[in-house]
Amino acid sequence: MEKIIIFDTTLRDGEQAPHASLTSFQKMEVAIQLEKLGVDIIEAGFPVASPGDFEAVNEISKRVKKSAVCGLARCIPLDITLAAKAVKPAKHPRVHIFLATSKIHLQYKFKKAEEEVFGIAKAAIRLARKHCADIEFSPEDATRSERGFIYRMVEMAISEGAATINIPDTVGYSYPQEIHSLITDIRNNVSNINKAVIAIHCHDDLGLSTANSLSAVLAGARQVHCTINGIGERAGNASLEEVVMAMKTRKDVFGNFYTNINTKEIYRTSRLVSKLTNFVVPPNKAIVGKNAFAHESGIHQDAILKKRITYEIMNPHDVGIADSQLILGKHSGRHAFRDRLKALGVILNEKQLNKAFLRFKEVADKKKDIFDDDLRIIVEDEVRTSKPVWVLDGFEINSGTRIKPLAQVVLVKAGKKIFGASSGDGPVDACFKAIDKITGYKVKLEDFRLEAVTSGKDALGQVNLKLKVKGSVISGRGASTDIIEAAVKAYIDAANKLGNK
Ligand code: KIV
Ligand code: ZN
Repeated sequence: MEKIIIFDTTLRDGEQAPHASLTSFQKMEVAIQLEKLGVDIIEAGFPVASPGDFEAVNEISKRVKKSAVCGLARCIPLDITLAAKAVKPAKHPRVHIFLATSKIHLQYKFKKAEEEVFGIAKAAIRLARKHCADIEFSPEDATRSERGFIYRMVEMAISEGAATINIPDTVGYSYPQEIHSLITDIRNNVSNINKAVIAIHCHDDLGLSTANSLSAVLAGARQVHCTINGIGERAGNASLEEVVMAMKTRKDVFGNFYTNINTKEIYRTSRLVSKLTNFVVPPNKAIVGKNAFAHESGIHQDAILKKRITYEIMNPHDVGIADSQLILGKHSGRHAFRDRLKALGVILNEKQLNKAFLRFKEVADKKKDIFDDDLRIIVEDEVRTSKPVWVLDGFEINSGTRIKPLAQVVLVKAGKKIFGASSGDGPVDACFKAIDKITGYKVKLEDFRLEAVTSGKDALGQVNLKLKVKGSVISGRGASTDIIEAAVKAYIDAANKLGNK
């Protein structure tokens, strides 16, 4: 098996995404998580860019122990010495230097000839090697550069001591077959290429960055540059989660390769980067988008419930997502509807299910998202027309600052009054315990929410609660101007769902 080195540039190229800048403290938070994720190299910043970036790279270099820490530099002595100084405390320091090699950049950006640029790169790599043992060199805009010039540059960079040669598709212009032949040609035409690791750095301007990175791996690249959530300059960089999960999922193609990434940390890392950069992950983003493991169509939901692999090529647990979701909407079928109700602790017979399902379809035609509360109301409205088992006759509580609350509750079942009394930690708790004594159910209060549904002193309070019983969760709702009565009603409402089972 061959290792694919994961070079994460979220904190450098990712941070170059417009409006994504991070404070030193936030960069440290991301770096710690990247190390936990298992990235081999963290490109922590561009030290010459600002004193803050120097400090961030330097602090990360002091703190991170497992991943190598890299600083970016142009082929300018100050850039190189600052980058080397910033990463010096790292256990594995690396300096990454770059210089454009395409005619477009030489002519319009530098106004310099190839030979001059060649000389600048050579001097820079030589200087960098004096300050840092591990040097990576990138001929920027490689995919739009003349092949012959890249071969010469790469050969020179390796002989000057660069251990990694990165091939950037700087403007996301290339496509998979072209990247494959570029890497193959470099391997065949650079005499000392076996002394270096070939890396790939793809941008996503045409939406091809992941495909291009994978193609480079198949052609012989052994290091991939990527960012979390694919953030980066303009349309972004190849996303780490996509590259890593593609190789993990397509074992038939990438079975000879492995990465160090602990994929179960992917989702957590994605959330952290999204939160700190304020970059919302699009819902349809591969691997980490909200919909990546969500199914709405009835046909898909039915098949997923029968066998996951019908419509899921990855297990959500593998990327740290708790479970896939069956989203209820107008395309959903009866199977998913029943399944969701079951998860809510509502078990219906066939007749009740048919009735509720028809109502659900009507609601779904008008409402985009059907939440659990909508389902509860549908079921309550349509199905629970049968008489409740337990009806509240009345209750009394004795409570105050100096006495332990005591509740007495009377419920009616089949015309018969049943009395229960209990003390409790508070008046509500005492009432609940008294009700438990009457019903005999062994339940655990999982959730209790009180909200005012109207305003003013005589506001109507509504209690929504959840009771756990034998692995199912039953919800109950009650409203009253007396909040204890609202709680008692909600508790009895839930108990009645058990009584109906
Ligand atoms: O896209 C690019 O070319 C870069 C270089 C600095 C490697 O980010
Ligand atoms: Zn880039």
